[in-house]
Amino acid sequence: MADNLRNSRERYGKVAQWLHWIMAFLILATYIAIYYRAWFTEPRTPPSSMALQIHMSLGFYLFTLVILRLIWKLTNNSPDPVAGPAWQQASARWTHRLFYVFLLLMPITGYIFAGLGNEFFYNTPIAFELIPKFSDTQAFQAIVVNGFGISDEAWRNAREPFKDFHVIVGGIVLVALFVLHIGAALYHQYVLRDGTLHRMTRQD
Ligand code: HEM
Ligand code: HEM
Repeated sequence: MADNLRNSRERYGKVAQWLHWIMAFLILATYIAIYYRAWFTEPRTPPSSMALQIHMSLGFYLFTLVILRLIWKLTNNSPDPVAGPAWQQASARWTHRLFYVFLLLMPITGYIFAGLGNEFFYNTPIAFELIPKFSDTQAFQAIVVNGFGISDEAWRNAREPFKDFHVIVGGIVLVALFVLHIGAALYHQYVLRDGTLHRMTRQD
C-alpha cells in the first residue's frame, strides 16, 4: 500500500485526511439543511419537508463514514501529539474522541425519534431504500415492546428523550466542540504558526 495512505508519526495519511474534510463538509451541509428548515420554512410545507429529507439523508451518509473512519483510526497508528502543554494535548484528544462518540450517536438518536422510514429519504442509494421505520424493525419489538414493555402508542411519548438528546447535543454540545476545535486549529495556524494544519492537509 502506498505509504502516504496511512498516518505517519508526523501527519495524518491521505485516507484520514480525505475522510476528515469530506465529513467536515457534509456536517456543514447537515446543519445548513436543518437550520434552513427551522428558521426559513413554514412547518408541514414542501420546503420544510425537503430540508428535513436532506438533513436525514446526509446524517445517514455521515453515520456510514464515521464507522469507516473509526475502523481506519483503530487499525492505524495515530500521529504523535502536537508539541505543547499537557492540558492542550489532553483537550485535543478528548475533543477528537467526543466527536467520534457524538457523530455516532446523532444519526442513531435521529433515526429513533424521527419515526420515519425509507419513504422519507431523499435521493438515496439503493441500500438506504431498505431502511424501515424504527417502529417496524425487529429491534423495536425486541427492545422497546418486549424488553421495556412500552406499547406502540406509548412510544410516541417515550421517544422524547432521544429527541432532546439529538437537539441539545447537536445544537449546543457539538457546536461548542466545533468552536473549540476550529478555534484551536486557527490558533495553531495563525498565532503559533507551528504547521499543525498541515498535518491534516499536506503529504510532505
Ligand atoms: C451527524 C448527524 C446529525 C447531526 C449533526 C444532526 C443535527 C441536528 C440538529 C442540530 C438539529 C436541531 C435543529 C433545531 O434546533 O431546530 C436536528 C434536528 C433534527 N434531526 Fe438531526 N442531525 C443528524 C442526523 C440526523 C438523522 C440521521 C436523522 C433521522 C434519520 C435526523 C433527524 C432529525 C429531525 C427529525 C430533526 C428535527 C427535530 C425537530 O423537529 O425539532 N438527524 N438535527
Ligand atoms: C466541523 C467538523 C469537523 C470535525 C467533526 C473534525 C474532527 C476532527 C477529528 C476527529 C480529528 C482527529 C483526527 C481523526 O481522528 O481523524 C481532527 C483533526 C484535525 N482537524 Fe478537524 N474536524 C472538523 C473540522 C475542522 C476544520 C474546519 C479545521 C480547520 C480549520 C480542522 C482542522 C483539524 C486539524 C489541523 C487536525 C489535526 C490535529 C492534530 O494533528 O492533532 N478540522 N478533526
